[in-house]
Amino acid sequence: MDLPPKPMRVALLLGGASAERDVSIASAAEVIPALRERGHSVDVFDTVKGRLGSADEERVLTATVGYAPPDLALRPVVGMVPRLVEELLGADVVFLALHGGAGENGVIQAILDSAGLRYTGSGHLASAMAMDKDLSKRLFRAGGVPTPDWMLLEPDGDPDTIPFEITPCSPMIVKPNAQGSTIGLTLVKKPQDLHDAVRTARMHDADVLIERFVPGREFVVGVLDGQPLAVGEIKLRDKEIFDYEAKYQAGVALEIFPADIPKQLTTELQDLAVGAHELVKASSYSRVDFRQDEEGRLWCLEVNTLPGLTATSLFPQSAQASGISFPELCERICRSALG
Ligand SMILES: Nc1ncnc2c1ncn2[C@@H]1O[C@H](COP(=O)(O)OP(=O)(O)O)[C@@H](O)[C@H]1O
Ligand SMILES: [Mg+2]
Repeated sequence: MDLPPKPMRVALLLGGASAERDVSIASAAEVIPALRERGHSVDVFDTVKGRLGSADEERVLTATVGYAPPDLALRPVVGMVPRLVEELLGADVVFLALHGGAGENGVIQAILDSAGLRYTGSGHLASAMAMDKDLSKRLFRAGGVPTPDWMLLEPDGDPDTIPFEITPCSPMIVKPNAQGSTIGLTLVKKPQDLHDAVRTARMHDADVLIERFVPGREFVVGVLDGQPLAVGEIKLRDKEIFDYEAKYQAGVALEIFPADIPKQLTTELQDLAVGAHELVKASSYSRVDFRQDEEGRLWCLEVNTLPGLTATSLFPQSAQASGISFPELCERICRSALG
């Protein structure tokens, strides 16, 4: 379907101060030319540095993601979005090429709301709920979307007193409650490794989630304007979890779109994805992550309200396999924000 050609004035926000800063810049590097190719004007702003001049923009457009997230100590501490608002006011839409932290957890969304600006993706409430894994899992459970058993370790919780009986004899995943890109996540197979895993997760979030490990297959489903897109399968070769390296280095994981699975499983995953998307009140677009255990049961891990947006990221692949090209997807995301 070809969309109306009316050009939009887009202000694109990239960067952020989160651990996913590099991933955000990689998304922006592909979204900017895609939107320009469709005839839209794009002004580019780094949420930490402000408006980018052409030399800085050039650097952004050729950026790549490293093997590991940027060092915690080297990351910028604060953003300047409140001060940028005035410069954004002339835009038809603010494109959020941001992942993790304030860009994805509703904080920047609320700032833009307060200025009456329209922006891509979900609103501030859905963004906050989806980013909080514990809260979204409670919503999944209440709404009948299966999610692995879990417990939240409060900030002052002592790792030594964690009740192991929540995951009897089985391995567990320890992860920060509000983080992305598998950063700070550990697969714990021996009880004595739990302490270190909690310490690692706490470097990223005071709240730590301990979740039953689901061995088996991994699937993702994009949702766009309330409709499910193609299901993808992630084949992890010799890894057990889809970690940062597998996510951002070519060839480490095999990503198959559409997944080679029976029609019935496709429909089941798509229904659950739309269900999870709605339960966290997401709008516009999201990507929902699943595992399937050896008995064939599906388990929802999370809803990503601002999933990766390079042309080879999972959400754009899900769209592509549904017949929506990357430039068209970027435009659809903008139009969706304009209602
Ligand atoms: N309970 C779990 N069982 C099996 N694998 C998991 C589990 N939780 C996370 N993983 C693995 O870690 C990856 C990242 O976890 P996820 O919960 O999606 O957080 P995020 O992508 O926000 O870092 C998943 O794609 C999956 O490979
Ligand atoms: Mg995930």
